[in-house]
Amino acid sequence: MKTLVIGTGGREHALALALSRDPHVSEVHAAPGNPGIAAFATLHPVDPMDGAAVAALATELGAELVVVGPEAPLVAGVADAVREAGIACFGPSKEAAQLEGSKAFAKDVMAAAGVPTAMAHVCTTREQVEAALDAFGAPYVVKDDGLAAGKGVVVTDDRQAALDHALACERVVIEEFLDGPEVSLFAITDGETVLPLQPAQDFKRALDDDAGPNTGGMGAYTPLPWAPDDLVEDVCRRVLVPTVKEMTRRGTPFQGLLYAGLALTSRGTRVVEFNARFGDPETQALMALLQTPLSTLLHGAATGELGRVGLPQWRTGSAVTVVVASEGYPQSPRTGDVIEGVDAANALEGVDVIHAGTALDAEGRLVTAGGRVLAVTASGDDLVQARERAYAGVDALSIRGAHHRGDIALKASQG
Ligand code: AMP
Ligand code: GLY
Repeated sequence: MKTLVIGTGGREHALALALSRDPHVSEVHAAPGNPGIAAFATLHPVDPMDGAAVAALATELGAELVVVGPEAPLVAGVADAVREAGIACFGPSKEAAQLEGSKAFAKDVMAAAGVPTAMAHVCTTREQVEAALDAFGAPYVVKDDGLAAGKGVVVTDDRQAALDHALACERVVIEEFLDGPEVSLFAITDGETVLPLQPAQDFKRALDDDAGPNTGGMGAYTPLPWAPDDLVEDVCRRVLVPTVKEMTRRGTPFQGLLYAGLALTSRGTRVVEFNARFGDPETQALMALLQTPLSTLLHGAATGELGRVGLPQWRTGSAVTVVVASEGYPQSPRTGDVIEGVDAANALEGVDVIHAGTALDAEGRLVTAGGRVLAVTASGDDLVQARERAYAGVDALSIRGAHHRGDIALKASQG
């Protein structure tokens, strides 16, 4: 099967790498891709936001499966353009991607489907904002309604900071604070069949011990040794299946990856957010353990044939991803710093260095080109070994001013 992956980040590198190791896949192409993906795939300088250009590229290549990685092109309707060209495309329609594109829309779907989530108010005026903040009390949770690349959410005890963020947004969702550990549970769906992946956890805050500002994600691991045995079944029954059914009932079936961000609170599991695509960096860890050929799952979803594909199978053991971020991330990441040690890290047992924000400079040197630079991913017999390997990979790298968290999967590995 000829495949084309749309996007440029770590998630796309991890998906493309899994496809390149898939026995059913003959070619991997990426647009625009990144220098990491270039090691095993053909890159095409096509704008991932331009549906017509992506569809034309897919047609020219004779692609049999297109995978749209990031949310922005999905919300812009790039998957629709590819499907209109008659090519199987993994990723929801523009309308279905509103599950991620609008927090207010997601709340509406959850209410209709009876999916447990935080109580919330959608506000457009200062009066509404103040009333909602005072109704819920601290800690305050204020979310920009639209896509904000992981920067739209403020969780704070400071009422003024909560108010300032709300007033800076056109439309906000203000909601009750959910306590308890967070879990990312992904499902692949064709709009009817729902196949859950193994649960993962990511680390949203910039610094160790969950201090510092929210980021796109500083690391991840899978599986979760501490998770309740019935977690996946419970979330399928109460969250994933009702949501997929509700989307179909509305005439906007969801096909692609439904990402449930969950909080396991003292009062039960609640949805924190939905995303309409693979999570980053959880996908890096998940792909390290996925045994079922990825193309079988994605093509099954894209063609409405997922009912014939069994539950995804996983290698035993654990996987850990540690994100190496550039100086200044997330506030003001610096770019253009030379990256050294990638080959040495890749040579370590069980380690894959996934590129997230890298580029080649005029002299052909690998340099930083974004906030999250690399996602060092390792598998091992257990979390202890996977952590050791991932951090050995991180230690082999050298990037001026870069930083990473030292506690990814630490607590979970201590059992
Ligand atoms: P979101 O973009 O909605 O996933 O929010 C980003 C992060 O903010 C989440 O991963 C949580 O860590 C935190 N967060 C969001 N909503 C809540 C909530 N209702 N209660 C507590 N923390 C939250
Ligand atoms: N891991 C967080 C996200 O992908 O949104």
